[in-house]
Amino acid sequence: MTLLGIDIGGTGIKGAPVNVETGELVAERFRIPTPQPALPESVADVVAQIADHFKYKGPTGITFPAVVKEGTIKTAANVDASWIGVQAEELFAKHVGGPVTMINDADAAGIAEMRFGAGRDRKGIVIMLTLGTGIGSAIFLDGKLLPNSEFGHLKIRGQDAEKRASEKVREDKDLSWKQWAKRLSEFLNELERLFSPDLFIIGGGISKKADKFIPHLKLDTDLEVVSAQMRNEAGIIGAAHSVSQR
Ligand code: BGC
Repeated sequence: MTLLGIDIGGTGIKGAPVNVETGELVAERFRIPTPQPALPESVADVVAQIADHFKYKGPTGITFPAVVKEGTIKTAANVDASWIGVQAEELFAKHVGGPVTMINDADAAGIAEMRFGAGRDRKGIVIMLTLGTGIGSAIFLDGKLLPNSEFGHLKIRGQDAEKRASEKVREDKDLSWKQWAKRLSEFLNELERLFSPDLFIIGGGISKKADKFIPHLKLDTDLEVVSAQMRNEAGIIGAAHSVSQR
């Protein structure tokens, strides 16, 4: 079955039709820069352009970087505050000509990794973290997702973890890989104390540079930490896959 997946991010909105059995894109992904300001109606226009590009009118899965409950956006840590309370499934469905399933961006990326990537066939507790502008999270027990975990807002040294250890913070503060790995280690150790996971998967753009920071991690236990395998496409694939699970 082929379903359209769309990944809404702070800088780009990307989509592609996905074979949800194999996790492969069946056409090259199409990307449009995120409109600024990223208000609901302008983002919906871009989503429509992506569906049009593929001449697609069926069920569509769409990610969003916030808590999403039954299609409604509940938080706005890194997006315009006007999104809070928006019934995004209904809004986008009017623009794409088919039913829409909304899912948190990190949950979508986690689903893709668990099904087709670094978490494939992994039982037990797996935590996926996406390190980008913010920190997204997804937690799984025996492959089943507990949605909207939001670990990036856990307090570390009195600050949201994403304000200390995201990729953006590394760049803004010009931290060395070692300095940044120390911050990431504190966060991983706290998650280990709280959830005793069997595996951490690190995703987001930074996962391409895993060899630069994974060796510098200082963990309290011999935790297994691996980088994500699906790279940039995880959100699109997870979004499309989540539609098929409804
Ligand atoms: C948001 C999450 C999102 C993450 C990554 C956080 O600030 O609260 O919902 O998954 O950023 O985009």
